[in-house]
Amino acid sequence: MIRTHSFITGGAGFIGSHLAELLLDQGHRVTVLDDLSTGRYANVAQLEGRPGFTLIIDSVLNERLTEELIRDCDRLYHLASAVGVKLILFAHVADICGAIARMLDIPSCFGQVVNLGNDEEVSINRLAQLTIELTHSQSEICHISYDEAYGPGFEDMQRRVPSLERARNLLGYQPKRGLRDIIHDVAGGLRRAEAVAV
Ligand SMILES: NC(=O)c1ccc[n+]([C@@H]2O[C@H](COP(=O)([O-])OP(=O)(O)OC[C@H]3O[C@@H](n4cnc5c(N)ncnc54)[C@H](O)[C@@H]3O)[C@@H](O)[C@H]2O)c1
Repeated sequence: MIRTHSFITGGAGFIGSHLAELLLDQGHRVTVLDDLSTGRYANVAQLEGRPGFTLIIDSVLNERLTEELIRDCDRLYHLASAVGVKLILFAHVADICGAIARMLDIPSCFGQVVNLGNDEEVSINRLAQLTIELTHSQSEICHISYDEAYGPGFEDMQRRVPSLERARNLLGYQPKRGLRDIIHDVAGGLRRAEAVAV
């Protein structure tokens, strides 16, 4: 396999840190640039010291540095930006990172906009029920108005289902993990983080 030098902006974030780990596992060199505005050092702490990994705490708005880093890499994954607050579809980060990493090996993907995600729609109510069930939680579901949840005047799409057709055709993309796996892994991660904090 060709070893590449990947540059990930926002690499200390949720998706970027998992992508960095995957690429290192595949034997690539990885440089992460992150200003830690929403990301956390803890996301990449376990990668520090691994051969080929470099972390730079700075902003992509530092043009000179960013340009230098782009010039030095073979592949750029630009993930430094804010995330939308309402999620209706859930995809496992491992499925997403696998597809993102593969995409740059497939020339027919170049220049294309490719949606990644999951087209298994779930309501927030069902998500809450499933989370309570799978974590054996004593929590109760409380329904509040849209305005109370998001503030007056906030508008968002009621449904958001990505078309995965292009991802399927170009990448053979098929999410392997479902909502139950996601809830299980998120709950496990939170329990581990809590155990470390105590
Ligand atoms: N997580 C999702 O469900 C989801 C869904 C759709 C799209 N996305 C997109 O994927 C990308 C990454 O999402 P994520 O969930 O990892 O978000 P995240 O907030 O965890 O990661 C974004 C990272 O970018 C960093 N960052 C922000 N501004 C920066 C700057 N000026 N310079 C350097 N670093 C900067 C943050 O510190 C953070 O580490 C975003 O573009 C997001 O819109 C995410």
